[in-house]
Amino acid sequence: RMPALEQCFNMTDFEAVAKRVMKKTSWAYYSSGADDEIVWFRPRVLVDVENVDLSTVMLGTKVDIPFYVTATALGKLGHPEGEVILTRAAWKHNVIQMIPTLASCSFDEIVDARQGDQVQWLQLYVNKNRDITKRIVQHAENRGCKGLFITVDAPQLGRREKDMRSKFSDSGSDVQSTSGDKVDRSQGAARAISSFIDPSLSWRDIPWFMSITNMPIILKGVQRVEDVILAVEAGVHGVVLSNHGGRQLDFARSGVEILAEVMPVLRERGWENKIEVYIDGGIRRGTDIIKALCLGAKGVGIGRPFLYAMSAYGLPGVDRAMQLLKDEMAMNMRLIGCSSMDQLNPSLIDARGLTTH
Ligand code: FNR
Repeated sequence: RMPALEQCFNMTDFEAVAKRVMKKTSWAYYSSGADDEIVWFRPRVLVDVENVDLSTVMLGTKVDIPFYVTATALGKLGHPEGEVILTRAAWKHNVIQMIPTLASCSFDEIVDARQGDQVQWLQLYVNKNRDITKRIVQHAENRGCKGLFITVDAPQLGRREKDMRSKFSDSGSDVQSTSGDKVDRSQGAARAISSFIDPSLSWRDIPWFMSITNMPIILKGVQRVEDVILAVEAGVHGVVLSNHGGRQLDFARSGVEILAEVMPVLRERGWENKIEVYIDGGIRRGTDIIKALCLGAKGVGIGRPFLYAMSAYGLPGVDRAMQLLKDEMAMNMRLIGCSSMDQLNPSLIDARGLTTH
């Protein structure tokens, strides 16, 4: 029997339930890839932590807690309503949702599910046909999206063997095809839907993106400090340090490891305020969020935990997952002796485990 939602006390619990209830093919697509790191805390004591404020500002938007729902394709593999469930949960918790290019719901459905002054971003896989790309970007801006996250770590989608073995064919894989290319499903869900992505995309294209939109531009999937420096020089607003949830290049370092490499260099140059640095990948606990912020991230993206919570329990599941992360984060802020995001700094952690290899 399926455990009651109240029996889920952390992100791992949702994952276990999702694995039990999801179709094998859908589970294979969501779960491919993953990782872990050890960073210790160096807490302060005897600090007044009666009131803890988790809010921060991401790309000009005030949010209640420094995570956003990152883009994950094919939401209907997990739940018949798909990405709009994430939209509703994000509204309830006042966090930002990044809308994937390869969503199961149409882009407009996901925007229409927005409430009040809710903020969404667009994740972009750049189409070889730049007219299509331009149309997608400008449509997103017209519909109120507040950030353009260009995925730069996927000139070709990674080979996901678990996904390929499950020889995927499922209603949730119906995405709004922008290419019209015939797809070969024997390569798994990911490959099948991604043939339109432009592998020639390069730094030279960034000025063009800036010329077609006023949305802040963020490069998603940066892996080393030299490229963060190029990003600053190109004038983009942010980067997401990420290995795409371990789904692209094998042996790509996790976001938190790259962050430990990047921030000292940015600080050395006095550039830490020139660009907003985000990370994603393996964020499963409030403590993971705190560690990332101590290292200098503006916020973190979270993918699979919300997919799993959605797949297992729908909206109440995602709602609870977000609440658990808030509770975990508030408690651990108290335990390290901090009451607001601006108090988080590198002295509160021992990250030698990250930087010595
Ligand atoms: C992703 N991710 C992703 N990224 C992206 O830029 N475009 C996409 O379409 C997708 N699709 C996608 C599907 C699924 C099922 C997963 C799990 C991930 C990567 C995602 O944005 C993010 O980088 C990682 O998922 C973060 O890691 P966690 O939180 O899932 O560990």
